[in-house]
Amino acid sequence: MTTVYRCFQRGCVAVLMLMCITLTAAAQQKSEDRMKWFGDARLGIFIHWGIYSVNGIDESWSFYNEQISYDDYMKQLNGFTATDYDPEAWVRLIKESGARYAVLTSKHHDGVALWDTKLSSLNVVDSTPAARDLIRPFINALRKSGLKAGLYYSLLDWSHPDYPNMTRSVKRYDTDTIRWARFVKFSHGQIAELDREFRPDLWWFDGDWEQSADMWRAPEIRKMILDSNPDAIINSRLAGYGDYGTPEQGLPVRPPQEKYWELCMTINDSWGYQGNDRNYKSPSQVIRIFAECIGMGGNLLLDIGPKPDGTIPEEQVEVLKELGRWTSKHSQAIFGTVAGLPKECFEGPSTMKSDSTVVFLFFKGNCGGELMLEGVKNRINKAFVVGNGTNLDVKEYLRPSWSDHAGVYFIKVPEEVLDDQMTVIGLSLDGKLKTE
Ligand code: GLC
Repeated sequence: MTTVYRCFQRGCVAVLMLMCITLTAAAQQKSEDRMKWFGDARLGIFIHWGIYSVNGIDESWSFYNEQISYDDYMKQLNGFTATDYDPEAWVRLIKESGARYAVLTSKHHDGVALWDTKLSSLNVVDSTPAARDLIRPFINALRKSGLKAGLYYSLLDWSHPDYPNMTRSVKRYDTDTIRWARFVKFSHGQIAELDREFRPDLWWFDGDWEQSADMWRAPEIRKMILDSNPDAIINSRLAGYGDYGTPEQGLPVRPPQEKYWELCMTINDSWGYQGNDRNYKSPSQVIRIFAECIGMGGNLLLDIGPKPDGTIPEEQVEVLKELGRWTSKHSQAIFGTVAGLPKECFEGPSTMKSDSTVVFLFFKGNCGGELMLEGVKNRINKAFVVGNGTNLDVKEYLRPSWSDHAGVYFIKVPEEVLDDQMTVIGLSLDGKLKTE
């Protein structure tokens, strides 16, 4: 009898375990499906647009760090006109750059909302000459063009009367549970409003470092967003409750741990528009950094800063256009690809088709007339210039018949196929990539 009972018990445990494994696998699959478009997208455009563009000073940080008084900072509200704001033109440019998504600052740390929030009058509709919601027309234009719409939202709000800090030296209070509860109600209320009004595909939180996940009630925020829109993606800055990593202004030197990540980077040295900042990265520099990101399986979120009238500075337009020429020519090596060869195999970034049968090699200049590749065990069926079609000569050495060690490949690259920015060579392999 006991034996029969034990068998029954073991059977139940086994069935339960199997159910758990199946449920976990299903949840994992669901999360993979949710992240799919993001992983394929590779390039996004970040837009920091706010009243800080009026004086051309650091967004929010300038008053926090007491470089300007709070009152003087807020005087910029009067100069934020959005008179020439053309969201359709913004989207045309973003699309032309090759980006598949954009992220607009709905509210930076200064608390100024770019939409008609009913929870505070500190918004561009009530408090600036722009006098209208600036988010909806942009989101509509993105969606019309088939691009994904992301919103940046700062959890911390140095303007809110119930938020503990105002500047680096001015604190409103240390602990006050009633005021904090009021602040949480306010910020969760704004997030709910953004969700209801715009239903972002991607939420780009920021400023989580000032409080703990418990204080922000981060799990509730995540739940609220996903209950309403199960397809939404959330960046990592929700105090540990996000979906992907956001290295900032620092190119990883080796692939980060997270499966999904996105480098956010300014186009010059500023997030918002600062007329004095002439330190623009050239298209070639942006493209090389972008190639490094995708070569390590990440995305690039390239930031631009429109002027207070809503126009995008000419220097920024130029970078985006040249980036667009290059991404459109090399789209098959960029979009929907995954991280490429290990660094030991090729001196430079590379990507791969997701089935790992085609590898794409990126290089600047003329590579001395030929590329060298080592540690790849496959036969190369064909080498070709991406976006140009020319087939290339491949020679393999150091592969005697008695060895199963990978040989060394040399691929001739004639001058006339070179791209001014980076050239991309595709290699069709005899099967899935096998390296030493
Ligand atoms: C930082 C800064 C902020 C900027 C953001 C973009 O968190 O606080 O000013 O908007 O990075 O990644």
